[in-house]
Amino acid sequence: MPSLAGVPETMLWSLYNRASEASRPDAILSDPESLRIHAALDYDFAAHFGAPLGSLAVRAATMDSALRQWLLRHPDGLVVSLGEGLETQSRRVDNGRMRWLSVDLEEAIRLREQFLPPTKRFRHLAANALAPHWMDAVDPSGPVYIVAQGLLMYLAPEAVRGLLCAIAERFAAAELLFDTVPRWFSQATRRGVYQTPRYRLPPMPWGINRDEVEATLRAWHPRMADVKLLEYRMPRGLPLMMANITNALAVARHQVPSLVHVVLGEALPGSRAAQSRGA
Ligand SMILES: C[S@@+](CC[C@H](N)C(=O)[O-])C[C@H]1O[C@@H](n2cnc3c(N)ncnc32)[C@H](O)[C@@H]1O
Repeated sequence: MPSLAGVPETMLWSLYNRASEASRPDAILSDPESLRIHAALDYDFAAHFGAPLGSLAVRAATMDSALRQWLLRHPDGLVVSLGEGLETQSRRVDNGRMRWLSVDLEEAIRLREQFLPPTKRFRHLAANALAPHWMDAVDPSGPVYIVAQGLLMYLAPEAVRGLLCAIAERFAAAELLFDTVPRWFSQATRRGVYQTPRYRLPPMPWGINRDEVEATLRAWHPRMADVKLLEYRMPRGLPLMMANITNALAVARHQVPSLVHVVLGEALPGSRAAQSRGA
């Protein structure tokens, strides 16, 4: 029985989403390791998190596909997953050569190691992602892909800015992938959102609308050379229909969760990043 609370407990929510999706005959995600871990945990997932809608499984599948593309170019590259929880992404995208560093708080790493022991290629580090310590475990000159799935919204905006700027300063050839929640949802969680009568979501202090992401990141640091939003929606049915309608409405389409992909480096002359800096 996991004894987690606050933000670390949310790792069980995303695990539940992935395992529920992976157990469907029409699953958009194949994830035997999540199924194994979900089945082994003594925790009332449905009472806490309600019916799994699959959006977090789509998020994971979209991130997998971005990672696989990067691994084709960098088969021996290092992926750092900040706030990795019980994510089994490393097993889903493994090419047999890549290396992986899972960073999470101590209680999260303790639970993770009960199911996914570290190996030479899959390392674990119990550390706060906001402290620079984890960066010392990464070669700053090699190709590195930094993933933060379901993490940044739980941090204060200034902390997110500090973390992304520190990454931009430290790593010469890095790509970043993270997800965001819109402002209205961040505000709602600060007032109190009950996922079920038994479970209140932790506050998500960092909210940003889709149309603010690119300009905000560029203003934060000049090495945000390429910033793109990746699409992710519900996998099927009525929730997907609703998401499609939202996306067709000009007033609503920027107020949805996003996946953000950033390539760090010097902006190419003529690119939007260079133009926005007057180069
Ligand atoms: C929603 S869970 C996401 C887990 C995993 N990435 C996934 O998608 O299943 C949030 C994770 O962030 C971790 N976390 C929260 N604050 C953190 C911090 N300051 N440093 C490192 N990890 C943190 C929690 O322990 C938890 O595992």
